[in-house]
Amino acid sequence: MKALLLENIHPEGIRLLTERGVEVETVVGALDEAELVARLPGVQLLGIRSKTNVTRAALDAAPDLLAVGAFCIGTNQIDLATAAERGVAVFNAPFSNTRSVVELVIAEIIALARHLTDKNAAMHAGVWDKSAKGAHEVRGRTLGIVGYGNIGSQLSVVAEALGMTVYYYDVADKLALGNAQRCATLDELLEVAETVSLHVDGRPGNAGLFGAEQFAKMRPRSLFLNLCRGIVVDHDALRDSLLSGHLAGAAMDVFASEPKASGEGFTSVLQGIPNVILTPHVGGSTQEAQEDIGRYVATKLGDYANGGATSMSVNLPQVVAAVEPGRSRILHVHRNVPGVLARVNTVLGDAGVNIEGQTLSTRGELGYVITDTVGPVRPELAERLRDLPETVRLRVLAG
Ligand SMILES: NC(=O)c1ccc[n+]([C@@H]2O[C@H](COP(=O)([O-])OP(=O)(O)OC[C@H]3O[C@@H](n4cnc5c(N)ncnc54)[C@H](O)[C@@H]3O)[C@@H](O)[C@H]2O)c1
Repeated sequence: MKALLLENIHPEGIRLLTERGVEVETVVGALDEAELVARLPGVQLLGIRSKTNVTRAALDAAPDLLAVGAFCIGTNQIDLATAAERGVAVFNAPFSNTRSVVELVIAEIIALARHLTDKNAAMHAGVWDKSAKGAHEVRGRTLGIVGYGNIGSQLSVVAEALGMTVYYYDVADKLALGNAQRCATLDELLEVAETVSLHVDGRPGNAGLFGAEQFAKMRPRSLFLNLCRGIVVDHDALRDSLLSGHLAGAAMDVFASEPKASGEGFTSVLQGIPNVILTPHVGGSTQEAQEDIGRYVATKLGDYANGGATSMSVNLPQVVAAVEPGRSRILHVHRNVPGVLARVNTVLGDAGVNIEGQTLSTRGELGYVITDTVGPVRPELAERLRDLPETVRLRVLAG
């Protein structure tokens, strides 16, 4: 089994794959489509980060490819539908930087409540401004979290540990952690919160979620943070609310339009406003998160390569089945149509194969069934399964 890992993937990912018997080749940077097409034959596992596009053309040129690991959070750079059509599993690391984002939010809430960045800038400019005016503790203050998913709910726990009172609003039913209280509507949250932090996902309906109307409903002199998606906030309306003094400060880590590479210029209507912290989308960027991403995605790739597990795959049906020593395993990705499982099992039955274990899962137009048998799976049996019209991909793991 051979893995090609691009874009400087963390050594922990390389170590874990090597430990599982995978031959690993690394490339420091990203590859363009032509380079990828040239490198993919003979590669079973591909590891990328955000700068390599795995296009239809690249997938067409990769008959040996079993899985793509996105060693990052997003998977927009991968043609997921084509990968699924080819039975190529795609994995990413959705939780690895959750804690990193939460810690930055907490740091920024405290920094805003103490006007830390302005004090720091003044000191560097040689100005000694010792005053408690406008500076607050966060203990006892009310935090409103919009979006109570992985990040929002973890923020809730850490904020309560600091003595904050937490309210949250989520469009989905979410279990309240600790003493956090659920708001039935966004307006209800805006009425009570002195600090509002956004942690919603990037679904299209969330564009412009926060504009002049929402800022007007926030309590006077409250703080506002967005470390989720740039499109969610109208920055012109935020600027007006800050300049009018209605909001006392804001922290923005994400922008509707962001430079593609470090070193490129950046402009924002929020530049130069006091008590506004601007960071270049670094909420999840820590060494710990990178290491965890390396570990998480490499484990997913290794488990898929060696046992066919697709738990947390972003494009294939999710199946996990413990690997039993001495059993052979047939991994069958197929079109999800009536009778397909019966046809697979008829082929197995006709060949005198006894099924020791079988797990099926479906996702949209695809199904994935893992079948365990005792003894070797003969090549002609594998061919008969491969020849079924519904078969997308067949792989056999010897026991
Ligand atoms: N700044 C960074 O570096 C960084 C790093 C990681 C994640 N993120 C972003 O943070 C956000 C949250 O990540 P997560 O892992 O917690 O995602 P998640 O999917 O676990 O949680 C999102 C939550 O928002 C809720 N939601 C969606 N739309 C809503 C709305 N209009 N009102 C209220 N609730 C709504 C969902 O029901 C869900 O519970 C994502 O947008 C992600 O891209 C940013």
